[in-house]
Amino acid sequence: MVESNPDGAAKDGSILSDYDLNTPISTDQGGLRSNLPGYGDAHFSLFLRKVFIKALGYTDESLSKPIIGIINTFSSFNPCHAQVPQLIEATKRGILSAGGLPMEFPTISIHESFANPTSMYLRNLMSMDTEEMVRAQPVDAVVMIGGCDKTVPAQLMGGISANKPFLPLITGPMMPGSVKGVRVGACTDCRNNWAKFRAGELDIEDIMDVNEELAPTAGTCGVMGTASTMACVAAGLGLVDLRAGATSPAVSSARLRVAETTGRQAVKMLEDAEAFRPQRLLAYENFVNAIVVLQAIGGSTNAVVHLLALANRHPAVRGRVTLRTFDDVGAATPLLVDLKPSGDGYMTDFHRAGGMLALMHALRPLLHLGARTFTGEPLGAVLDAAPFAPFAYSRRVVRPLADPLYARSSLAVLYGNLAPRGAVIKASASKDRRLLCHRGRACVFRDSRDLSARVDAEDLGVAPDSVLVLQGVGPVGHPGMPEAGLVPIPRKLARRGVADMLRLSDGRMSGTAGGTIVLHVAPEAADPASVLGVVRDGDFISCDVPRRRLHLEVDDAEIARRIELRRQETATAAAALPGRRDVWEARKTTRGYRGLYERHVNQADEGCDFDFLTADGPANT
Ligand code: FES
Repeated sequence: MVESNPDGAAKDGSILSDYDLNTPISTDQGGLRSNLPGYGDAHFSLFLRKVFIKALGYTDESLSKPIIGIINTFSSFNPCHAQVPQLIEATKRGILSAGGLPMEFPTISIHESFANPTSMYLRNLMSMDTEEMVRAQPVDAVVMIGGCDKTVPAQLMGGISANKPFLPLITGPMMPGSVKGVRVGACTDCRNNWAKFRAGELDIEDIMDVNEELAPTAGTCGVMGTASTMACVAAGLGLVDLRAGATSPAVSSARLRVAETTGRQAVKMLEDAEAFRPQRLLAYENFVNAIVVLQAIGGSTNAVVHLLALANRHPAVRGRVTLRTFDDVGAATPLLVDLKPSGDGYMTDFHRAGGMLALMHALRPLLHLGARTFTGEPLGAVLDAAPFAPFAYSRRVVRPLADPLYARSSLAVLYGNLAPRGAVIKASASKDRRLLCHRGRACVFRDSRDLSARVDAEDLGVAPDSVLVLQGVGPVGHPGMPEAGLVPIPRKLARRGVADMLRLSDGRMSGTAGGTIVLHVAPEAADPASVLGVVRDGDFISCDVPRRRLHLEVDDAEIARRIELRRQETATAAAALPGRRDVWEARKTTRGYRGLYERHVNQADEGCDFDFLTADGPANT
């Protein structure tokens, strides 16, 4: 007998088989039948699941289609994701038109300005949330909507680990604003204008006007900051449409069309789902292409940390992409994209100039053209099918290889006794290129609290050729490794017109910031064995970017003596003041997520991931 739904439609055999107790329900059937909860009776688990989902009005026919999850990261605290509801609607349209069933679900959402202590502290939590929800729920493929700095890396990390077919859907950059006829945009101009205000060049009315215009629309920061960098890196990995996926404005119709086509493509991937599992789709060559893109766009230093974390999630790439890979790729890759903070333009300029399609054509000789993309085609075939003839405006924003903005190594990796495991500098964002080869005396701040207490003191022992050293802002030392690496120029020097100094720390820096700034020093100062942790005021430090050296000019015996002295002082202070918190020791007993974070986060040269989440961590079956 053929049964009918309440709406009169006939049920097909596959629906009837859900109730056939003699036919086992296989977990690899996909759709609603996958990932059933463990009641010990698969038919009952499916029956119960249908009971509840039908409360939302679904028919058996809809529920028998392939299910495409859509990750909703809308939050009132995340204006970079304000357009997510519209993107979800457009994505659903694409999924439905291709024969899938869209099911949206939330994960946490992280915005740079609304996450204490830092957004980076929560990146791994978001990646776990993403991975576990993708694993747990009956989704055959997933569209992950993200944009603000840490969200895209968190989703890519979770997606690679969950290893179900997924596609990133980027929220897109905001439009630039205008103050007194001058274009401004978050957040390079946030920092430039704030520095002018600190130096007394802008008054309160001026800075308030600027505050109104820096983020004039929804969307991610409109320069080549971390969000834009990660959007372009996702395209470099082969996961995002080259025409508009990374660069079209958040508030454009193009962005909605990207959402619709992403939804459609997510269904199409299921024609050969195994081939689109990220651990199969992405190979070492995809990561190298992403690093080529990172260097060519003068991207955020944060992307180095994120890409290392991503690579280390992938069993076949783990350990093959290291800091040296970034340096080696950089040595052969010029900076081609003229956007702030390394250049002049905004993301809207990049998009109008042809965006990632124009860039990938320009970079073609440096790319692995056999790397597969989200359509299944190799990159070379994608470029062949979408030729791009650069026009005059395009050439100004996306330079040809023969006429770069910066010849090579916009991001460089330094080593030396100060950074045995490496440190990173965005050389192309240096405001005073002479500082890329510099020797000066250290002016040391113990941590960010010490920095804010003393940096503007009139009696601070600092000169224009000093090296500003900030300790205690590494992954463990200040959980989340804050973007404090842009140590402000001491006000007494800023008033004298000093605009740049050599600065170094174990922290990060916003991708929108510029200056001669060495970051991610590993191991971090909080590590009892760290050399950075024993630098003292007046020590000479030499930095030689062309030779990739970062050196503390203190002999080895004296460094060893200081490290031992520090160990003894820490032990003495802990005995005298039991409540005193030395983070390296105290983390052993810290509760909650903070304890998990502090005990398991690895160093910047490994991606600041949790050790148990990398591909080397315990297998998760
Ligand atoms: Fe979200 Fe800049 S604050 S991208």
